[in-house]
Amino acid sequence: SVQSAVRRSNYASSTRNFSSSASNPERKVTVLGAAGGIGQPLSMLMKLNPLVSTLSLYDLAGTPGVAADCSHINTRAQVSGYMEDKDLAKALEGSDVVIIPAGVPRKPGMTRDDLFNINAGIVKNLCQHVAKHCPNALVNMISNPVNSTVPIASEVFKEAGTYDPKRLFGVTTLDVVRAKTFYATKTGLSVEEVNVPVVGGHAGITILPLFSQAFPQANLGEDDIVALTKRTQDGGTEVVEAKAGKGSATLSMAYAGAIFADACLKGLNGVPDVVECSFVESNVTELPFFASKVRLGVNGVEEIHGLGSMSDYEKEGLAKLIPELKSSIQKGIDFAHKN
Ligand code: NAD
Ligand code: LMR
Repeated sequence: SVQSAVRRSNYASSTRNFSSSASNPERKVTVLGAAGGIGQPLSMLMKLNPLVSTLSLYDLAGTPGVAADCSHINTRAQVSGYMEDKDLAKALEGSDVVIIPAGVPRKPGMTRDDLFNINAGIVKNLCQHVAKHCPNALVNMISNPVNSTVPIASEVFKEAGTYDPKRLFGVTTLDVVRAKTFYATKTGLSVEEVNVPVVGGHAGITILPLFSQAFPQANLGEDDIVALTKRTQDGGTEVVEAKAGKGSATLSMAYAGAIFADACLKGLNGVPDVVECSFVESNVTELPFFASKVRLGVNGVEEIHGLGSMSDYEKEGLAKLIPELKSSIQKGIDFAHKN
C-alpha cells in the first residue's frame, strides 16, 4: 500500500527518528506566501523538517486551511496560520528563517523582469515588516525577479538600519537542482552523486552553470555542454510553457526552497561545511550581488567562495551576463529609493 511504502522509505523513517530527538534547538521558520503554488508544498516540506520547531504560515488568503491541513502531520513543528496584515507581527516575531515566495508567477511569453511591477512592491512591503519584527532572521528570497528583489530587500533593510549582508539570500537552488538533473541524465551518472555549481543570477543568461567544475567529471563534448547550459538557463521557461498559463515551477521550487532553508538551519545550528550556491552581496565580481558557492554558518553567510577555474565558454558566458545582471540589480535599488 502507499502507506506502507511511505513508512518503509528512508526519508519518512529518518524524519521520525530525528523528530523524537531532543538535541535540535528550537527554530522558527516563517513562509510569506504560504498558500500559493510554491508556498503549499514548501510549507509541507518544512513541516517534515525535524530542525523546525515552529512553522508560521502567512498569506493574503487561504492560510487557515493550509495551516490546519499541515498541522495534522505528526512531526515536530507546531504550525500557525496568519492572514491579516495586523497579524504579520505575530507571524514574524522570533523567526530564525523567513522564506518569501509571495508574488505573481510568469505566464508563457513573459520574462521574469515582467513580474517586477507587481512583485517589487510586494517584496518591499514584506521586507519592511521583516525589518521591524525579526531583523535577525535569515531571509530566503524566492519571489521573482530575484536579480532585483534581493537588492530591493537590501535597500529596505539599510533604510530600516537592520541590514546584515550575511543574512540575505536570493534562492538559486532550483538552478543547481536542474543542472544536476540534466547533467546526470546526459552522462548516465547517478543523480544522487553529481554536483554542479551554478553562478551569476537567476534569469536567462545570468544563470551560469559551471559544467567544467561538475562532479564527477564526464567527458562531454562542446555541443553537449552548450545544450546543457541552455537547458539550465531556460529551465524555468520550459516549465512555464508546459503549464500553459497555469503558472511556473512550484513542486521543484518547493523542493529546492526546502533544501536551501534546511542548509540555513543546519548552518545556524553549527553543522560544519554546509555549502550551497546563493545570490548574495559579494566581492567575487565587480557587481554588488552575485550567486556563487556560499558556506553557511551560525551568522548566515560565513564564506563566499570564488568562481574557481572556468572554461573559455564559461568565461564568455560570465562576460555576457554582467551587463544584464548589473542593470537588474540597479533597477531594484532604484525602485527601493523611489517608491
Ligand atoms: P502563486 O501565485 O501560486 O502564489 C503566490 C502567493 O503569494 C499567493 O498565494 C498570493 O496570495 C501570495 N501573496 C501575494 N502577495 C502577497 C503579500 N503581500 N503577502 C503575502 N502573500 C502574498 O505563485 P507561485 O507559483 O507560488 O510563485 C511565487 C513567486 O515565486 C513568483 O514570483 C515566481 O516567479 C517565483 N519563483 C521563483 C523561483 C526561484 O527559483 N527563485 C522559482 C519558481 C517561482
Ligand atoms: C524558475 O526558474 O522556474 C522560476 O524562476 C520561475 C520562472 O518564472 O521561471
